[in-house]
Amino acid sequence: MPHKELVHTLRGLVGASQVLCEGDLSAYELDWRGRERGKALAVIRPGSTAEVAAVVKACAAAGVSMVPQGGNTGMVVGSTPDASGEQVVISLGRMNAVRTLDADNLTITVEAGCVLQNLHTVCDAAGLLFPLSLASQGSCTIGGNLGTNAGGTQVVRFGNTRDLCLGLEVVTPQGAIWDGLTGLRKDNTGYDLRHLFIGSEGTLGIITAAVMKLYPAPRAKMTALVALPSLQAAVALLGLAHAHLGAGLTGFEVMGQFALSLVHKHFPQQRVPFFQTVPYCVVLEHSDTESEAHARNQLETLLEAAVAKGCAVDAVVAENIAQARALWHIRESIPLAQAKEGLNIKHDISIAVSRIPDFVAQAEVALAHSHPGIRLVNYGHLGDGNLHFNVQAPEGADAQAFLRDEEGPINAVVYALVDAFNGSISAEHGIGSLKREKLVAHKSPVALDMMRAIKAALDPHNLMNPGRMLKPGGTHSDSATH
Ligand code: FAD
Ligand code: MLT
Ligand code: ZN
Repeated sequence: MPHKELVHTLRGLVGASQVLCEGDLSAYELDWRGRERGKALAVIRPGSTAEVAAVVKACAAAGVSMVPQGGNTGMVVGSTPDASGEQVVISLGRMNAVRTLDADNLTITVEAGCVLQNLHTVCDAAGLLFPLSLASQGSCTIGGNLGTNAGGTQVVRFGNTRDLCLGLEVVTPQGAIWDGLTGLRKDNTGYDLRHLFIGSEGTLGIITAAVMKLYPAPRAKMTALVALPSLQAAVALLGLAHAHLGAGLTGFEVMGQFALSLVHKHFPQQRVPFFQTVPYCVVLEHSDTESEAHARNQLETLLEAAVAKGCAVDAVVAENIAQARALWHIRESIPLAQAKEGLNIKHDISIAVSRIPDFVAQAEVALAHSHPGIRLVNYGHLGDGNLHFNVQAPEGADAQAFLRDEEGPINAVVYALVDAFNGSISAEHGIGSLKREKLVAHKSPVALDMMRAIKAALDPHNLMNPGRMLKPGGTHSDSATH
């Protein structure tokens, strides 16, 4: 079917106003980091699961490939079309309803286009907690969170998005609807298909709805910003926090001083405690099921022990919700501050927590030698062993040219060390098209072959987000030998 005819068919399926072909489509075609601008044949905005299925069937019949898109906040160029002008973007934004909240089952059934923050609002009103928390939560959607198996700032206690999901509804690449919205906590009836789609980055099908786990809201939350003498001290503080707070430890985010200085520079209205006084700070959050007094007491006992053991220098403890928000806001502003500073290289890596200080020390030495003058923006989810070990071009350098010439060599230095430390080159952001070549180089050939077999079985015509995560036509011979 020629493209013109397909567009006509799609207009008939979802309504002409929900098929966008002209005008400024940047919101759908340009990735959040400004790394790549694509060109869509059309952006389709279906309003129901049945419409998604009909759209997918029509595209499949026409042999046109599809890019599922949520809030387009992904970090690895996975949710925007390529430059061919031949791909259809299927935006889930209109499918944003909360279908049911089952307080007794502690579950919520929600459509894929629901913005994460709106989900929080609904749960808060019911006195329940949906723990997934990302700085992008005002724009990212639950479908995108599932598509990427997003991590965020509460993983240390509640796990990744995968751990929060009890069921999915999915439209397959052929346009069939799989209703797996059971909400069961136990179900060993064969392969757990849900886990294939979670983290599949839109390459196996389109998630249209999900059942997510809820928790009772804590009675109190206490937040502290802790000043540290070293990264090693941060690891020691994490151990103490686990021991003192147990399941009450709900956030543990580290920030290097240069990351803090970018927040200070680009958001001067924010007060950044311990600015330029210590090499690292940690945002530590304690959630308590008893009372605020109990929570404060436990946190203060922990901080006193940390200072006594030399793994903390000083700390500020938020006195109220506004102060806690302000401390979290410093941490959450780092990606935006980095973007304001200019194009940058992101390394979203994970390594055993105990080995992170060694990794950082070795990476700093190697990069100072290979690329003098580069600026390291080091921060992240230390509680999960997940660092954002990012690189900003040297002061005053042309960032675009720097990325063109140095991204490859810098990645080679960092990822060689990640391999040496038995780590992962993508802890939470996924692969998209930015890390596709890296996946081939760093994943085992056996694992890659199984991934390709799954892709070929579910999407034999390679129509769902082709070229993302897996290289089209790649074979195990492309892979490294480890
Ligand atoms: P999109 O960007 O639209 O899509 C991401 C991927 O999922 C694409 O491959 C897309 O094809 C696929 N997809 C989208 N919707 C569906 C669907 N319905 N069905 C199937 N596939 C789908 N990420 C973290 O993990 N942790 C963080 O702490 C974090 N912080 C961030 C902070 C900022 C300021 C920003 C801008 C981003 C951050 N991210 C973080 C990255 C991003 O927000 C997450 O990856 C998020 O899960 C993406 O959701 P989205 O709705 O924007 O998805
Ligand atoms: C974060 O933790 O802030 C995010 O993963 C975003 C980023 O790495 O820029
Ligand atoms: Zn992160």
